[in-house]
Amino acid sequence: MMRKKTGIAGFDELIQGGLIEKRVYLVSGPPGSGKTTFGIQFLAYGATIGELGLYATLSESPQNIVSDMSNYALNIPTLIKLKKLLFLDLGPTLEYGYGDDLQGVITTAYDAVSQPMPEAEAPSPFIVYKEISNFVREYEIQRLVIDSVSAIRFTSAERSQEEKEMSRFMRNLKRLGCTTILLSELTDPNAYSTEQFAASGVIFMHNFMRDDTMIRATQVIKMRGTEHDCDLRKITFNKQGLQVLDRIG
Ligand SMILES: Nc1ncnc2c1ncn2[C@@H]1O[C@H](COP(=O)(O)OP(=O)(O)OP(=O)(O)O)[C@@H](O)[C@H]1O
Ligand SMILES: [Mg+2]
Repeated sequence: MMRKKTGIAGFDELIQGGLIEKRVYLVSGPPGSGKTTFGIQFLAYGATIGELGLYATLSESPQNIVSDMSNYALNIPTLIKLKKLLFLDLGPTLEYGYGDDLQGVITTAYDAVSQPMPEAEAPSPFIVYKEISNFVREYEIQRLVIDSVSAIRFTSAERSQEEKEMSRFMRNLKRLGCTTILLSELTDPNAYSTEQFAASGVIFMHNFMRDDTMIRATQVIKMRGTEHDCDLRKITFNKQGLQVLDRIG
């Protein structure tokens, strides 16, 4: 079994050297815990060893992500220029267009105004899959990050149906043959979600207060086929991105 190094200092050692290739993983955490940084480091490392990476974004615009991530010394602008790192914008068109506010004022058909704009809706799993698979085939993408799975519209009244939709989405992603990291929002570390069951591996990013200081940590929750560390490990952010340090006692 081939493993893909994440390239994150201190992380690959926790999981026998890297992620087993061609599987789908989940990196979950609260706001600002380092999910985007984790995904970008994984892609940037791959890009430097000749593995094409795709960052598909549903929440932030690619421009914002590129601009934020370019503050790290990871050569993001260069990798983009060399076409080793690609971005795909899958976000709903939420920008206010010219005349939006005027329309709200001058129209008399209020029911028309209150109709949600179709393009403002979050994309469905099928749309996300289809757009990504076109890209993966055209460019022979080997590393894939989706930011975030929480922004995909899983539409079903029934919870069980939604779970099926999620499992189906993840099975299809796996068939693409990339090594994939799904980023997901996590607020309750004790409430397991469908994507956590379906993923080959789950990594939590923690961000919590203890004695007036913010503790930042990472934790491998599961990693199929891998002997792994389960402890909370302190992380820091510096020019190189995030770095994994000692256990938190
Ligand atoms: N160049 C940098 N140098 C040092 N630390 C940085 C740098 N850029 C970002 N950080 C730190 O990294 C943190 C995590 O950022 P990141 O965007 O990866 O988190 P996230 O989990 O994706 O957040 P969100 O939920 O908002 O998408 C930032 O809040 C900031 O503290
Ligand atoms: Mg992010």
